[in-house]
Amino acid sequence: MQSSGYSKPTKSPLRFPGSKSKVLKKFETYLNIEHSEYREPFVGGGAIFFGKKQLVENSWLNDKDINIESFLLSVRDNPIQLCEMIWNIQPTLELWHYYRSQELSESRLIRAFRFLFFNRTNYSGIYNANPIGGLKQLSAWKIDCRWSKEMLCKRIIECSNRLQKTLITSIDYSEVITAPGNNVLLMLDPPYYVKGSKLYPVSMTPEEHSYLAYLLQNTEHKFFLTIDDCPEVRELYSWANIIPETWYYTVNSKKKDNKGKELFITNI
Ligand SMILES: C[S@@+](CC[C@H](N)C(=O)[O-])C[C@H]1O[C@@H](n2cnc3c(N)ncnc32)[C@H](O)[C@@H]1O
Repeated sequence: MQSSGYSKPTKSPLRFPGSKSKVLKKFETYLNIEHSEYREPFVGGGAIFFGKKQLVENSWLNDKDINIESFLLSVRDNPIQLCEMIWNIQPTLELWHYYRSQELSESRLIRAFRFLFFNRTNYSGIYNANPIGGLKQLSAWKIDCRWSKEMLCKRIIECSNRLQKTLITSIDYSEVITAPGNNVLLMLDPPYYVKGSKLYPVSMTPEEHSYLAYLLQNTEHKFFLTIDDCPEVRELYSWANIIPETWYYTVNSKKKDNKGKELFITNI
């Protein structure tokens, strides 16, 4: 495998619904498959890319959500400015309402900061959710409980190093899959089929999921996909290798509702 020299795995500064940060070990076999180009058409919080042990020269991260593209580009190109902004504020309810009332900014850096602000102050990191502690802040958990300036800046600097040679875009997944390439590994973590529209501002219709399955059936690239286990998905990928997986989202929790049933789907 070609190495780019930026191989120290790190953690994303973003909290992300459905993040794979706690179950990365399960992906190792697939991430270690020999490849010269690496692509993630649905990068989200980037947990898989930032946690990947081996990096190749050509990596391409994409997400249709423009806030995610702005954030990753700012981390790559303006880490110091982003850290200064983080350092200079302490989240409050007033600030939260102020950012909610703002239009999407023209400035990439401001878009990135606003996105990070909601990601770290909202319930479960969900962009459109209410703040941690609620709109009245009556809970023991307050709006700023996930705003650790040291941790965020450390992760931003580490992720910035990792991203230096990476292509970052905000286009439809289909363009990333169909772009030609040499010995490409596609790592796909699309929105969940059943609950995706509740978790992400940009989600996918059943028709888009069907088109994804069609493109993957016809691609020459190697691919590995992780998605929720439901009859519709099993039907769409009946032609591929399907491996059922179960994990606990919270490492120490054995609660039933924290158990994720997912499918690993691959042509490898
Ligand atoms: C499940 S999340 C990715 C989670 C990520 N792997 C992590 O661990 O943090 C799915 C992502 O797909 C993106 N998305 C939805 N529709 C898309 C499309 N048509 N093309 C590209 N990205 C899309 C969403 O914006 C969301 O960030």
